[in-house]
Amino acid sequence: MFSSRRKTLLLQRARTLVEAQASCGGVDTASTPISLGFPLSPFPDSPRASNDKGMDRVVKSSISKINPQALPLNNQSADPLPLEVSGQIKAILELAIRSPSGDNCQPWRFSVTKSSLEIGIDHALAQHTFNNRHHASLISLGMLVESIALVSPELGLYAQVQWLAAEFINLDRKSPWVRITFANASLAANQSAWITAIQSRSTQRGEFSATGVVLSHPKFNFMKQCDSPLVSASVLSGEQARSTATLIEFICKSEQYVFSNPSALRDLFHWVRFSKHETQTSQDGMPWRSLGLRRTEALLFKALKRFPVLQNVFSPMVKIVIASQTRRKVGRAGGIALLSVKTATPEAVFEAGRVAMRQWLQLEQLGLAVQPISAASICVFDVASGAAPASMPAAYKTLYRNGLGTLMDAFCLNAGETPIWMYRFGQLATKPTQETPRRTLASFLIGR
Ligand SMILES: Cc1cc2nc3c(=O)[nH]c(=O)nc-3n(C[C@H](O)[C@H](O)[C@H](O)COP(=O)(O)O)c2cc1C
Repeated sequence: MFSSRRKTLLLQRARTLVEAQASCGGVDTASTPISLGFPLSPFPDSPRASNDKGMDRVVKSSISKINPQALPLNNQSADPLPLEVSGQIKAILELAIRSPSGDNCQPWRFSVTKSSLEIGIDHALAQHTFNNRHHASLISLGMLVESIALVSPELGLYAQVQWLAAEFINLDRKSPWVRITFANASLAANQSAWITAIQSRSTQRGEFSATGVVLSHPKFNFMKQCDSPLVSASVLSGEQARSTATLIEFICKSEQYVFSNPSALRDLFHWVRFSKHETQTSQDGMPWRSLGLRRTEALLFKALKRFPVLQNVFSPMVKIVIASQTRRKVGRAGGIALLSVKTATPEAVFEAGRVAMRQWLQLEQLGLAVQPISAASICVFDVASGAAPASMPAAYKTLYRNGLGTLMDAFCLNAGETPIWMYRFGQLATKPTQETPRRTLASFLIGR
């Protein structure tokens, strides 16, 4: 899946940073900052920004080292106060940015101080036909935060997570959605299970098999019980999914939506990288090889991206291909899992992202692969919560409205539980797909 060389390098880097921190006087992040070579600052429009004026400023020259991709969340605000931060927090963030995001858009923005971190979303990067009311951003933020919470103790810190954006309306502003306060935790020398899992996690789009998936085994209990009061977890074996024809049909039709909707297709193609050069220069998006496409299919996609006028001509053919691929892949999965929220609040969606990430990592620790099936779950949530855009064709609104009933029946959901995240999992039966790139940590930091 992930090259073991990269895994070792990342682990070494994380450990070196923590050791550097320890050799500079222990793990007291509040009193012993380590220079990272780039400045860090609070969110420009966070209330805390104006209260931190007494804190150390980093010399102006180091500010120019910020990656130009770092876009300030709010250009009109007062100067952000650059601060230095501990090697541990840097190591944690280096790992956390390996988290999944829709189309690998990596929309997270960080503002870091010596012992805390605020995280927001870059709305320009997150703009997408499938990101209505920020639902996809909330999921990927939850995944990122869960990564932080899981690896922190393995790097000597405890991460306390505070949700800041109580209302969906608050999400539109350029303020942070989450604050994480770090406190010292005892560093266990041999504890690196989550670090390793996060380094090796990936989305796999090849075919799976049911080998090794026996849901009645206690090792799969984590897929049926959920410790979040806002989220419920359900799972079907591949066998159960296969015998529920309405479920498979619904998933196939919802995957086709992308190819029936010009704006969804445009947004998808925006993030598909058709050459190594494109991947290396952008450091985001999805290399076409990671999509499990054959070369001929990739060439067709490339042509459709370049000449949108061809999309109408080829759309029916592409839809047939997508439906048959989806039927095959979902039909052969070891299982299909569904997370539902018990209340339609941003915090619940964020929490679902956290649970999703933990399940993803746990499944990979069991040697299984995961692929999100987000159109069939996030769009159901969009329609059920009134977030579907007016531009969604009526036929698809009906599909997703009926899809809610299909998912509720198939996964035996209780009234009031609304699906938000679905994925297939199983033993990978084909070659693992290529690793996706990440931007540098500096590019996620707010500052100038
Ligand atoms: C909100 C969200 C929606 C996603 N939807 C899909 C999807 O429908 N199909 C898919 O194959 N991958 C999906 N992904 C996975 C991302 O494409 C993937 O995480 C990203 O390209 C980075 O690749 P990686 O997971 O291998 O690191 C989704 C991820 C997130 C966070």
